[in-house]
Amino acid sequence: MVKITFIDSVGEARSVEAEPGTTVMENAIRNAIPEITAECGGGCACATCHVYVDEAWKGLAGAPSDKEEDMLDFAYNVQPNSRLSCQIKVTEALDGLVVITPDRQG
Ligand code: FES
Repeated sequence: MVKITFIDSVGEARSVEAEPGTTVMENAIRNAIPEITAECGGGCACATCHVYVDEAWKGLAGAPSDKEEDMLDFAYNVQPNSRLSCQIKVTEALDGLVVITPDRQG
């Protein structure tokens, strides 16, 4: 299992155990992580699963695809480390991943 820590907009950290092959968003929803709504269910079509990838993990989490970049245009307060969590696939290499959730989506 892969550990993922979500830090919310007021600094509270919640860690979950994620199965490789799932997405970061799926694990957020499964564990009722606040501040991620994921309205489209992972289709890269809503931008309500927006997260900020901790700088230390930016390289391993990878860059957004062109489609994800387009969708991120609809996200609130996009930063250089913004990603849509439904587009981050959990791998063993991401064990310890830290993402920060924005104070609002959309
Ligand atoms: S869940 Fe809709 S874009 Fe990620």
